[in-house]
Amino acid sequence: MKIQSAHVQHLTDICELLKVLDTEKRTFSDEKQNLFFISKQWCYIAVEGGNVVGVMVLEPTEGSYKIYTLVSKQKGIGRLLVNWAIDICRKNNIPKLWCWSLARYAVEGFYKKMGFAESFLLHKQWDGEDCYFLGRLIND
Ligand SMILES: CC(C)(COP(=O)(O)OP(=O)(O)OC[C@H]1O[C@@H](n2cnc3c(N)ncnc32)[C@H](O)[C@@H]1OP(=O)(O)O)[C@@H](O)C(=O)NCCC(=O)NCCS
Repeated sequence: MKIQSAHVQHLTDICELLKVLDTEKRTFSDEKQNLFFISKQWCYIAVEGGNVVGVMVLEPTEGSYKIYTLVSKQKGIGRLLVNWAIDICRKNNIPKLWCWSLARYAVEGFYKKMGFAESFLLHKQWDGEDCYFLGRLIND
């Protein structure tokens, strides 16, 4: 298993994996948008035996990194990808990693295990849906 930057040839596999995040109002698996993320080198994939088994889009924002999307098809890959994001923060001297997560995904417990000690549930926040705002400091 290795984690690497995604390239154009991975686009179809990435979009297929991201479909699990799509809602009635938002298409995280949109090809054009993910092609943009790949071109910016914000998209990372976990590859096992030639198959894409995980994807993460990590977007730099002002002074922090945001996990925009994260999907794992195999136990353990979620942790590896978040640790990868933490390493990138450390390398770039970025003190904060955070994300939005729709409550319907029910992954607050996962992020808590990954050290996201800051967790706020905002009601009717995003597309009218309940949404967690989750964050962790990198070196504290
Ligand atoms: C959430 C997701 C990325 C986790 O990936 P994963 O590879 O299954 O996670 P890991 O196996 O690395 O789990 C790490 C730890 O978190 C726990 N965990 C995983 N998913 C969890 C969840 N939904 N709630 C609570 N804990 C969870 C695991 O049990 C493990 O705990 P342990 O260290 O005590 O064994 C994956 O389930 C997924 O892709 N879900 C669908 C897409 C999604 O909702 N993504 C999040 C968008 S914000």
